[in-house]
Amino acid sequence: MSGKQSKRDSFSSKFGVIAAAAGSAVGLGNIWKFPYITGVYGGGAFLFVYLGFILAIGLPIMLSELIIGRKSKRNAFGAFKKLAPKSVWKYIGILGVAAAFMILSFYGVIAGWSIEYIFMAVVDGFKDTSPGEISTTFTAFIESPVKPVAFQLLFMLLTGAIVIVGIRKGIEKYTKILMPLLVVIIIILDIKAISLKGSEAGLKFLFHPDFSKLTGEGILSALGHAFFSLSLGMGTLITYGSYIRNDNNLLNTAIQVTVADTIIAVLAGIAIFPAVFAFGIEPNSGPGLVFITLPNVFQQMPGGHIFSVLFFVLLTVAALTSAISILEVVVAYFTEELNMKRKWATVFATIFISFLGIICSLSMGVFKNHSFYNLNFFDLLDWVSANILLPLGGLLISLFMGWYFGRKKIRKELEKGGHIGSALLSIFMFLVRFIAPVAIAMVLLHGTGLLDLKWFMPAK
Ligand code: PFF
Repeated sequence: MSGKQSKRDSFSSKFGVIAAAAGSAVGLGNIWKFPYITGVYGGGAFLFVYLGFILAIGLPIMLSELIIGRKSKRNAFGAFKKLAPKSVWKYIGILGVAAAFMILSFYGVIAGWSIEYIFMAVVDGFKDTSPGEISTTFTAFIESPVKPVAFQLLFMLLTGAIVIVGIRKGIEKYTKILMPLLVVIIIILDIKAISLKGSEAGLKFLFHPDFSKLTGEGILSALGHAFFSLSLGMGTLITYGSYIRNDNNLLNTAIQVTVADTIIAVLAGIAIFPAVFAFGIEPNSGPGLVFITLPNVFQQMPGGHIFSVLFFVLLTVAALTSAISILEVVVAYFTEELNMKRKWATVFATIFISFLGIICSLSMGVFKNHSFYNLNFFDLLDWVSANILLPLGGLLISLFMGWYFGRKKIRKELEKGGHIGSALLSIFMFLVRFIAPVAIAMVLLHGTGLLDLKWFMPAK
């Protein structure tokens, strides 16, 4: 996929498609963000709602994005321009490019933390430290003005370099080995976490839904996170879909990626929450949850030194395969719509996003007191992109699929590489025409305070 000529290259194999799409989906969202927001929004009930959104909204929208991408063979903006000429649908693509800028700016910061933790792990820096010390070290690190910025820039440099060289050679090859390895490490951590004394409370917190803890904000975050985790709503899978060959079975691809992404998030939750309770950490401690909890686990397990190094290396790799997919949305747009050279498009986007990232990083410390609606710059970008822009993008994509693109063309695209029964197609149509748009609209209105779902409930 490098160079202007080969821009419309396709992934080389079926596995390459899965590796790239799952590589995009599986990332910090699963291992860093999912456990921390599940902790903030009360555990089991949040997980329950999240899984519902994944199934009823995430999966159909993932399939929609893949269809739009492969049919049009264009970037997120160009795809709509081609499939719906002279209409306003193309602005969905602009929304997506904006979301890509915002997401990658804060994503790079967290990935930078992960790189720092590789170094900490290498020198066995978690050894003989109390849970309190681990937490203090983390806070001091993220608030400091130099190191986190430097690591964020290093991460962005790596991301930019891979996107310039092309995804196929590097990423396809390495994700094949590294992703399964990540799963193995998480399962080992799961076993260790479950065997800790006092772990049952964590499992109960994660799997026992207490719906009284659910808030409008929690429901909005569950929806936003379903989009974030599956890389939906901003054209990432339209862009990747445009590189998928016609003989690929898109329905199977969508199902496999969704299942893999969800399993990894739940496995990460099983590694974190038992340990959170066993070490007396607050489940709602926020973005630092993984970075504070897991070092405590590593410290207590045989071979913890090696596992901690491996874990943070793999977390960084998982972040990298997601980050390149975000940058690719912007680069594909710049090259195809603004006629920029791939190299310059990547350099320009990487520099601009890195700059926003520096502000994000500094908003943890130096700029801590500058807040917008009670959120610092980092939280603001995270909140607006994941909870507003991605669901809004998803809403528009589902309307496009269900009401503009239509059943006939959908069937034709899906049958290029597989078979879809009429009943299944009808379910899909029902989901994208009615369920997804109505549910997203209600959650968006409720979560932003414009509508109160209680108005529709029977009075107690
Ligand atoms: N899905 C990625 C994760 O869970 O870490 C993050 C992400 C990638 C979000 C691509 C959005 C996107 F378009």
